[in-house]
Formats: sequence, C-alpha cells, structure tokens
Amino acid sequence: MSTSTNAQKLPEAFTDFKPSIKVASPGRINLIGEHTDYNNGFVMPTAIDKKIYFEFKENGTDSTCRIYSATYNAHLEFDHNNLSISEKSWENYVLGVTNEIKVLGKSLKGFDCIIKSDLSTGAGISSSAALECGFASGLNALFDLGLSKVEITQLSQKAEHNFVGNKCGIMDQYASVMSKQDHIILLDCESLHAEYIPADFKSCKLLLLNTNVSHNLADSEYNTRRQECEAAVEVIQKKYPEVKSLRDVNLEMLEEFKAQLEGKQYQRARYVIEENERVINATTAIKAGKLNEFGELMYGSHDGLQHNYEVSCPELDFLVEFSRDKDYIYGSRMMGGGFGGCTINLIEADKIDEYVVEAAEAYFKKFNIKLDTIAVSPSEGTIVEKL
Ligand code: GLA
Repeated sequence: MSTSTNAQKLPEAFTDFKPSIKVASPGRINLIGEHTDYNNGFVMPTAIDKKIYFEFKENGTDSTCRIYSATYNAHLEFDHNNLSISEKSWENYVLGVTNEIKVLGKSLKGFDCIIKSDLSTGAGISSSAALECGFASGLNALFDLGLSKVEITQLSQKAEHNFVGNKCGIMDQYASVMSKQDHIILLDCESLHAEYIPADFKSCKLLLLNTNVSHNLADSEYNTRRQECEAAVEVIQKKYPEVKSLRDVNLEMLEEFKAQLEGKQYQRARYVIEENERVINATTAIKAGKLNEFGELMYGSHDGLQHNYEVSCPELDFLVEFSRDKDYIYGSRMMGGGFGGCTINLIEADKIDEYVVEAAEAYFKKFNIKLDTIAVSPSEGTIVEKL
C-alpha cells in the first residue's frame, strides 16, 4: 500500500534534510543497435551528462519509506513490507525497485529520499533507467546491501518488467550504471561483456533533436515486437534447438523459415539480424575513424526501424530525411524505443547552430511543433557519494 499526494511545497519530513547518501544517475544515448538488446544482440550506448539526482537518509522507522519528487512535485509514502503496483507511473519505478531488492532477500529499514532531475521524460533518453538504477544504487549504499553494479542493472530491469509492465532489455540500465567518461560501450547483451571504445568523433559531435512527441503506441508496440521476435525464434528452434535467440540466427538460416513465419515475424527478425551486423561494422568504422561509414550505418539502422521493424513515426522520419542531403551530417537515426523521442545525429560541430535553426523551422512548418535540441556528451555512469 502506498499513499501519494501532490505537494505544493516540500513536505515537513524533507525540510532541513541532511542526506547521508547522494547519487547522480545519468540518462543514456544509443549510437546504434536498437531493439537488439532483448534479442541478446549488440548495442552501443553510453551515459550522458543529464541526470537524476537523489539524496537519501534513514528516518529511524522500521519500514516507512518517504519519497519526494521535485520533478513531479509529488510525495509518496509506502511501507516496504507491503508493496503493490501504483496507478501513477513514476511511482512504479521506485516501488518496483524496492520490491526487487526485497525479492533478493535484502533487508531494508525506513528511509527518506528526495529526487530532482534535469533529464527530460518522454525524450527517449531513458529517464526510467536513471530513476530505477539511481534509486537502487542509493538504497544499496544506504543499507550496505552488497549489490554489485551489474546486479543493480538487472534488478532495475526486473522492476520495469514487473511493476511498470514494460518488457525492456538491459541496455538502458547497463548504460546508466556502467558507462565511462568519454567512452561508448559495445555491449554484448547475451554475455554482458562490455568493450569500452573512446568516443572520438574528430570534428563532429553527437546531437539529439527532440521531436517533442511521444505517441502512446510506444509501450504496447514494444512488447508486441518482443513477442514477434520470440515467436520467430520458437519456429526456428524446432529445427535448430541450439538457437536461443535471434542472436544465434543468420540471414541464410532465416530464409529457410520465411514461409513458416507468420505475420510480420520474418521482417522483424530480418531487421534484428541486420542491425546486429551493423553494430559490429560500426565498431570497426568508429575505431578506424571512418565517420562516413559509421554514418551510413546509422541511416541503415533508421531505414530498418522505419520499414521493417516499424517503430518510427512521421516526425522522426522527417528529421532523418531532412538531414540526408547535408554533407556536414554523417548519419542520423531515431534513437530508443521509437514512436517519438529523439533522433541522434553525427554532425560537424561548427554546423550545429546553423542546422538546428534550419531543421527547427522546417519541422515547425510541417508539424506545428517546436523542435528541441539536447546537447549530449558521453559521460560516467552512476556516481554514489557517501557523506
Ligand atoms: C527502450 C528499452 C531498451 C531498448 C530500446 C530499443 O529504450 O528500454 O531496452 O530495447 O528501447 O533499443
């Protein structure tokens, strides 16, 4: 059971708040490798310099937990021995994390927590994972739970599955917690082996353009895509029992099953197999400083997401299209789950201002919606400070 209220001002429990733990928990970008994580494939994310900030302290009770979110200007109080799913979406991230910690048999006491954020929600930069992982990291430090960083990512992912209802992969949580300053991660989502690659884009920068739309298809279609991929694997497994996920399937093998796969299963699987290949090729291109090649792979990723995986939307497609004839933009693609949020662009740094004005004008003319930019730079994962 939990109670929640909209707080007009800081509730009394939070005035004169002396935290013993502080956490800074970042959002993430993903350079390439979309919808591959839950198919045990490859992704290339990193944390960004936009974060959710937490302050924690014990409150002397056995089990009363009080949280104040400055972002939602809301107060939540619950008993960690009596947890249930809330109707308010943001609450389920913290309730879900608390629940997963209890499932692991860890013991908690009562605590107070203040949450502030400079991460936009709905922009596809994973404020969700930042909230889950930051909260979990704070409780881990406050109560010496002995959870490793990877365990924090995994329990946060479970919280999202079980309390929020989104069957997400591990990418966002992993990037938020495990990233290293000025590096991108080539993450193998099957083994969780991570290779840290220096984020060296020469005279270019990564630029996010926020469509400021978030179509409500996102959650249901996300889970449907996951089911379509799993259904394709089940068909293939009948002949090839060693196949555990689309990670183990190549295009030649997939062709064998074209006639047996139902609905859109073939095209979904094809996209995932091709995208995994693009991530590997992108790694080689980035390491060799071949930004043109990497950019082409970004466009290829977008085409696949738009036409085969069908998780894009007109606003994202417009922005990617708009970038195509600009020789100072090497690549552009939708980023994250899709149906809104941001495009990620690899662009010559000295052209950013000019381009943003041009793109925003065209975008407004077409959709009557303001275009926002989010400046990002590859940053360190979660930072926990004991005071
Ligand atoms: C969301 C999910 C991730 C990942 C991306 C798509 O951000 O949380 O696990 O699947 O979508 O790549």
